[in-house]
Amino acid sequence: MKYQIAVVKGDGIGPEIVSEAMLVLEKIGEKFGHEFSFQEVLAGGCSIDANGIPLTEETIEVCKAADSVLLGAVGGPKWDNVPSEKRPEKALLGLRAALGLFANIRPAMMYKALAEACPIKPEIIGDGFDIVVCRELTGDVYFGEHGRRESDKGWGVVGYDDMNYSVYEIERIARRAFEMARVRSKKVTSVDKANVLETSRVWRETVTRIAAEYPDVELNHMYVDNAAMQLVRNPGQFDVIVTGNLFGDILSDEASMITGSIGMLPSASLNESGRGMYEPIHGSAPDIAGKGIANPIATILSCAMMLRYSFGLSAEADAIEASVEKALNDGYRTADLAAKGEKALSTHEMGEIIRGNL
Ligand code: IPM
Ligand code: MG
Repeated sequence: MKYQIAVVKGDGIGPEIVSEAMLVLEKIGEKFGHEFSFQEVLAGGCSIDANGIPLTEETIEVCKAADSVLLGAVGGPKWDNVPSEKRPEKALLGLRAALGLFANIRPAMMYKALAEACPIKPEIIGDGFDIVVCRELTGDVYFGEHGRRESDKGWGVVGYDDMNYSVYEIERIARRAFEMARVRSKKVTSVDKANVLETSRVWRETVTRIAAEYPDVELNHMYVDNAAMQLVRNPGQFDVIVTGNLFGDILSDEASMITGSIGMLPSASLNESGRGMYEPIHGSAPDIAGKGIANPIATILSCAMMLRYSFGLSAEADAIEASVEKALNDGYRTADLAAKGEKALSTHEMGEIIRGNL
């Protein structure tokens, strides 16, 4: 089969890590008889530099026409002072909206080989954990009305951002979460703030109603403050966490940190047709950009998610994941994972080891 992939390398370490991931896809193509063709486009800070805006129509069109999008990372201190409408982050939000990427899937699992890096005590971690955060991505306070008005109490300017969710949006993300739980440990935790927010009360009612379609999956509800606490108290209790855009943003960062290896975690953002954008969950790491030392594993694992979720190529995805796991089990580490004094591989060397394992 032929697959057309739009590639947004982005800023900072983006180009370095995405190049390694593209080589992994090429290797998969050779081994399994697929053809991946890549079309590179700009988004984020590099697009601001080249075009004056973070996301052009051309980039949107190429991404829409492709079978999937592979993205590195966008942003960096260079663009910190540009006006909010033109910030690199707008490229991400714009692509999510333009492609209708409503489901953000962020696994947070502990690799046995990296257990030492986990910041939580072994007696709390027990057998480890394997969580997927299923975050709604095109609604909530992110896409509500934003603005400023004058306070009617004479307190100066008031900033406001409207939080809202429609039943339709909640239904479709809930179904995604239940379907995912079905092929995992059959447990969904829905996270909201229904003790305070009306948005959350609609959320909770809707998720509860959809749960009836999945009697084989267990559902429980948790307030977001409690969920933040439970993630460090007993992460093993979670399987799939389904939540809104803002809570999901926060909890997915927390979940990634407790794995101790944020440089390892991939993500997928999917639309209703199953197409998606795949990216590491870490950022552009401007402090190490250009040095060739970034960990390419999160981006490589994002390609595995692409193969599995958008192309239905699960044997190929399994092969990538097994090759990564073998590299770790064999003791190979990039600088972010290496212990003091331990030899660290470069970005490219790690890519080569993983491709060798394939
Ligand atoms: C993420 C990021 C983005 C978000 C920012 C960069 C707009 O934090 O992908 O989690 O808030 O969604
Ligand atoms: Mg975030």
